[in-house]
Amino acid sequence: MFGARCLLRALRSCTSAPCPRPKPSARLSVRDALGARSTNGERVKVQGWIRSVRSQKEVLFLHINDGSSLESLQVVADSSFDSRELAFGSSVEVQGQLVKSPSKKQNVELKAEKIEIVGNCDAKDSGFVHIHTPIITSNDCEGAGELFQVEPSSKVKVPEENFFNVPAFLTVSGQLHLEVMSGAFTQVFTFGPTFRAENSQSRRHLAEFYMVEAEISFVESLQDLMQVMEGLFKTATMMVLSNCTEDVELCHKFIAPGQKDRLEHMLKNNFLIISYTEAVEILKQASQNFTFTPEWGVDLHTEHEKYLVKHCGNIPVFVINYPLALKPFYMRDNEDGPQHTVAAVDLLVPGVGELFGGSLREERYHFLEQRLARSGLTEAYQWYLDLRRFGSVPHGGFGMGFERYLQCILGIDNIKDVIPFPRFTHSCVL
Ligand code: 4AD
Ligand code: MG
Repeated sequence: MFGARCLLRALRSCTSAPCPRPKPSARLSVRDALGARSTNGERVKVQGWIRSVRSQKEVLFLHINDGSSLESLQVVADSSFDSRELAFGSSVEVQGQLVKSPSKKQNVELKAEKIEIVGNCDAKDSGFVHIHTPIITSNDCEGAGELFQVEPSSKVKVPEENFFNVPAFLTVSGQLHLEVMSGAFTQVFTFGPTFRAENSQSRRHLAEFYMVEAEISFVESLQDLMQVMEGLFKTATMMVLSNCTEDVELCHKFIAPGQKDRLEHMLKNNFLIISYTEAVEILKQASQNFTFTPEWGVDLHTEHEKYLVKHCGNIPVFVINYPLALKPFYMRDNEDGPQHTVAAVDLLVPGVGELFGGSLREERYHFLEQRLARSGLTEAYQWYLDLRRFGSVPHGGFGMGFERYLQCILGIDNIKDVIPFPRFTHSCVL
């Protein structure tokens, strides 16, 4: 299958015979190609990202850009080059002849003889744009105060001044930055290191972990969000199982016998949904004695989460609509009562407990304004409030801890065993 794809790619990159032996192509930037004076069929090579694709019956038009110029270079190719991989965002190397363009829109265009895909743009397939959110930030997204502060190690000249003028921290979540970008790109994601100064030695907490986060505009219900979460878990897991079979089997055989069946059980069943209120009822009726007594208004502990998953037949379970008082300011108010909740969702999985945390966001200006005021955060989050002032849309998102994900699919009990250099309280070795 893989071999066949390679063969097709090789065939596609061939010119129609007979093919004169080409002179080695000169590599040009898009800027240089656009500014080329002589367009007498000089053979060149241009690398860049596809900005648009227009496929006609016999011709394929691509616009590619490498950041050297605002204008993109038009590539004209035979329609036999057309493929799913030639899509917006993919990086390509195009070889061909630089010729005068018959169109008035540009002086030159590149007549493609060979197009090679350097990197696919998988994110485009599901419509998510990858955003690099900052690691150093001035906000505490989760409002839990579990921040590592960032300062120069030797005090700068004026010791009372902050390096950034404001206190700065290592990020606890890229969510708020993603919310900004989802206003432009609709569906965005980030994947990067995340830091929490949690004083925890537990089997599922690290001080530095990786998190994949997604933010989606125009999402109006938790149902829509849960569909994306379940889809992400199942698609990623199936890809890992089919692309890294030997590695996964090694883990399953020597560390977690029976994990393969448990994983298949998770993949073939629809994930369940219960409300926080139902979850507390289930826990109250449990015969098991918990260290922390379950009670409405109190956060679920790991022991509760693990019990709930078992109770649900070891199928991942979404717990939705948590008490407003337990959750951060950005979660959307359900306007219910007397037990006041927000549109929050956690996905609990076997062996680990919470794997995803997400919510609908409070997009209504006045609701958010009041929540911020009550928490004394109005000044710090004015910019966030302003996002609601200008063209706000219903939106939501979630984050999934990468190491917890590995624990879940590989069946590894301790989070410190899925990361080569674990950082946790009292330990920062190497
Ligand atoms: O539930 P959390 O705190 O959610 C957020 O940070 C949201 N701002 C995400 C969003 O909506 N964009 O964290 C998300 C996930 C958790 O469910 C868990 O899997 C993981 O991140 N996580 C940790 N993993 C390892 N060590 C820790 N200390 C973790 N804290 C959270
Ligand atoms: Mg959480």
